[in-house]
Amino acid sequence: MSWLQISCTIFVLVVCRVHTCSGYKPVIFMHGILADSDEGNQLLDWIAKDHPGTIGLTIDAFNRQESIVNMTAQVNEVSSIMQDFMTKHPEGVNLICFSQGGLVCRGVIEQVAHNVNTFISLSCPQAGQFGDTNFLKNFFPTYLRDNLYKALYTETGQKISVGNYWNDPRQQDLYLQWSQYLAVVNNQSVNPNSQKFKTNFTRLKRLVMIGGPDDGVITPWQSSHFGFYDSNLNMVEMKDQPWYQKDSFGLKTLDSRGGLVTHVVPGVMHIHWHSNITVYKNYILPYLD
Ligand SMILES: *[C@@H]1O[C@H](CO)[C@@H](O)[C@H](O)[C@H]1NC(C)=O
Ligand SMILES: *[C@@H]1O[C@H](CO)[C@@H](O)[C@H](O)[C@H]1NC(C)=O
Ligand SMILES: *[C@@H]1O[C@H](CO)[C@@H](O)[C@H](O)[C@H]1NC(C)=O
Ligand SMILES: *[C@@H]1O[C@H](CO)[C@@H](O)[C@H](O)[C@H]1NC(C)=O
Repeated sequence: MSWLQISCTIFVLVVCRVHTCSGYKPVIFMHGILADSDEGNQLLDWIAKDHPGTIGLTIDAFNRQESIVNMTAQVNEVSSIMQDFMTKHPEGVNLICFSQGGLVCRGVIEQVAHNVNTFISLSCPQAGQFGDTNFLKNFFPTYLRDNLYKALYTETGQKISVGNYWNDPRQQDLYLQWSQYLAVVNNQSVNPNSQKFKTNFTRLKRLVMIGGPDDGVITPWQSSHFGFYDSNLNMVEMKDQPWYQKDSFGLKTLDSRGGLVTHVVPGVMHIHWHSNITVYKNYILPYLD
């Protein structure tokens, strides 16, 4: 090789380190409640091995105790971090969002002119939460699930993230009145921007929903696939939900053009989704292009 060829090769290699020459889109990870940005490290490591050159970003905001601040505040700040990153990567990005992080990501996707290609919703309570986990017991030790609405459907309750997506199937009037986040992004209550939210959401190429019956935290676990209880606690699947049928935020549109993928995966507890290599290889990696 001549010096010129060597110099050219070095130049290309350097440019490839700085930009993405791998052909794989950058991946953003958003962590769950009470966790921090480290939660994404294992997945981003695996991705870097399988798809060398992929740029990864794990959102370093609302870590640990701060993860309980209200969803609106989280979506606003995470939007601006993600928008900065997306501007630097006009080729588009993929999102992997875990648990509560998936509701933050849905908010971002509905509220900004994003360039997200695939959104992987990894065990996220997309249709809300109605189950008293240990986490909630720490905050409200004296409340049982059926009474939590009394604390969460209040001004104080709406100051914490869980209050914003607490969905009590027997208290739907109060849910619609109080839920400052889930009822709004679903256009179940009042959202003056619902049309824009829908336009933004349907820019998504693909939504991959992963969850399963042994989760133990997301309740009902079908909420990870947009299913939820009716007032008798019977399961109503996504396609029978009014906001799906009315296409209130674009889910039906996405589905009708083949953009919705559902994976029901047994044998995985909530805290293991992001560190289970079988889950990664079978249900995450194939969608990262
Ligand atoms: C996305 O939503 C934002 C906020 O409502 C809005 O300003 C923007 O116009 C929307 N983008 C599209 C393409 O509708
Ligand atoms: C959400 O949090 C932000 C920042 O702390 C605050 O400005 C806003 O008023 C809060 N909204 C609600 C509904 O508590
Ligand atoms: C949101 O709901 C309102 C009131 O029901 C309705 O007028 C509006 O068309 C809905 N938006 C979308 C995008 O479906
Ligand atoms: C990992 O995921 C597989 C399903 O893909 C499941 O069968 C297995 O039990 C999981 N292992 C752990 C430790 O979560």
